[in-house]
This record gives sequence, structure tokens and C-alpha cells, in this order.
Amino acid sequence: DQTKTGVKGLVDAGVTKVPRIFINENDKPTISKSDENEISLIPTIDLKGINDDSATRAQIVKKVKEASERSGIFQIINHELPLSIMDEMIEGVRRFNEQDAEVKKKYYTRDRTKRFQYNSNMDIYTEPTASWKDNLLGRMVPNPPHSHELPDVCRDIMFEYTEYVTKVGNTVYELLSEALGLEPSHLKEIGCVDSVNIVGNYYPACPEPELTFGITSHVDYGLLAILLQDKVGGLQFLYQHQWIDVPVVSGGLIINVGDFIQLITNDKFKSVRHRALANKERARISVATFMTPIPSPSDNMRLYGPIKELVTEDEPAIYKDTTFHDFLTSYYTPNVDGTTAHLKDF
Ligand code: SIN
Ligand code: FE2
Repeated sequence: DQTKTGVKGLVDAGVTKVPRIFINENDKPTISKSDENEISLIPTIDLKGINDDSATRAQIVKKVKEASERSGIFQIINHELPLSIMDEMIEGVRRFNEQDAEVKKKYYTRDRTKRFQYNSNMDIYTEPTASWKDNLLGRMVPNPPHSHELPDVCRDIMFEYTEYVTKVGNTVYELLSEALGLEPSHLKEIGCVDSVNIVGNYYPACPEPELTFGITSHVDYGLLAILLQDKVGGLQFLYQHQWIDVPVVSGGLIINVGDFIQLITNDKFKSVRHRALANKERARISVATFMTPIPSPSDNMRLYGPIKELVTEDEPAIYKDTTFHDFLTSYYTPNVDGTTAHLKDF
């Protein structure tokens, strides 16, 4: 039952060669340092003063709009998440993954109805090759896990992080709504913050980082991901066929646009393809928060399509209406080339 201790289990067992399942001959990391011009495609937006005066807020909304339309990715600083909570969340993911394998194994499951899941390569069935990572996943809102469902080593911080990151998410959804020329509460009112999942990624040090990825190239399914990363770095996004490095910004949270917001904005905002490199020297940790409509069809049958206010005679609806559940089902069905993302189905 080696698989139940993840990629970290492989590393601990002493593998010095990356097994074949992690290698895609058609997709190898290209490692080139991005220059300043390229890095400016992922602006760092300072939210300081966002509620102080309307001129400051308008400036911030403008920057959010530009980035969401252009590259689909930006970072925010001076948001509602205190540095101490961010650091402790990273440490919680570290403690979970670096604890005794026997304890970790008890949480191993691929059962998506569980409110806490630990496994390796969460997306193994939808990705062309395996990635050099292990995951934990907490389904935190609307039905939070019971205390006993979360591991001792990260329980408190998962609850606390959820509380703060939800505030950040609400703020970002307001900014995005305003950037679309809608009422600040628009995205919230159509249910886009009703479900919150937190995914902790643990990327063990990799003996051959030139052969595999920490996470293979993909587009997120949701509206946006709020991504916290440690100081190791390695995240890249695709802009006009070029992979660009995401800088490590102290106190920064990365916001990236997903497929579902591209659908409801009728292509005004573009989802961003991204991936992360593996690292030879050090383990890397990141924490992605996904705030979306409720996926369960029994609790949410709302139909989503391009937002009416954004559809005009000149810019007719590109996508047809769908429930969030059907949208997700399509996302999790791999394309023939093994990639995910299915906007073309709608
Ligand atoms: C993700 O795309 O979900 C994770 C990216 C990262 O670890 O930087
Ligand atoms: Fe992602």
C-alpha cells in the first residue's frame, strides 16, 4: 500500500529516478527566467485603502479588470488574510504531509463525498500524466467537516484559514463584479461564493525535475482560485504560447481566472493555463481555495450562462446555459488529448 503514502512515500523509499507514469514525452519543463516585461503580465495589486474612498477603489477595480481581461492572473497584497494565518496554513499542510506515514494513510481516500480527503495526484484520472505532488482537500463550506474528520495537525488552521480566505474571496468577487460593470454583490448573489474547498498541495523534492512537473498544465474549472504559495516558487502561466514565471511576493495571494467565470462573462475574462515546476532541492507547498456555486444538483439547479447585462447585439452569448453540476461533469471528462477544460462543450 505504497500508493497510500503518495509521492512523498516514493521519495522516502529512496527513488532516484522518476517513474514513467510521471513523464510525458510531449510535454517537458522548459526552464527560462522570465524578464520584467513578462512578469508585469501578472501585476501585484495593492488593496490598501479599498474601502476608504471611491477614487482608490476605482483604481483597484481598473487594475483587476485589466489583468482579468489580459492574462487572467494577478496577485493581491494588503488583503484580509494576516501573514501569521498564511504561514500557519502552509505549516499545517507541511505537518500533515511530513507526519508518520501510518497516521497519514488513515486519511487516504478518493471518495469525493468525504469532507476531508488525502491522496496523491487528486486529478490523476483527468490528467495525461501523473504530477509530482500529494494533496489534501477540505470541503469547508457550506457543510463544514466535523472536528473529528480533520487531522489533529491541521484542524484548527483549516477552520481559521477558511474564515479569513472567505473574506478575501468576497472582496475579490466584489471587485470582479465591479470590473464587469455590475453591482458589487452580483457574483455573490448568483451563488458564486456558496461553496468553499481548500486544497493543500505538497510537492516533494524531485530527483529529476527536468522530466516531470509539480503540477501539469491545466486550466482551473471554477471562477477563480485564491492561491497561497510558500517561498520556493515554480508556478508558471501561459501567455501567448509562452510560459511565464509567477514571482514569489511576500504576503501575496495569487488570483487566477477559471473556465466557469469565462463562461458567465461571455469571454470578457479569460481563464489562464498554468503549471508548476518540480524542485530538486526542496519540497514546495501551496494552498488553493476554490469558491464556486454549490456543485450538488440536488442543492443547486440554477442555470448559468453568459450574464444578461454582458450580452449585446454585437456580443451575443457564446455559451449556452448549464447547471454548475453539468459543467463540472464535463470538466472531469478528459478530452481526447488527455487535457481537461471543456468550454467548447457549452
Ligand atoms: C494549482 O494550480 O492548483 C496549484 C498551483 C501551485 O501549486 O502553484
Ligand atoms: Fe490550478
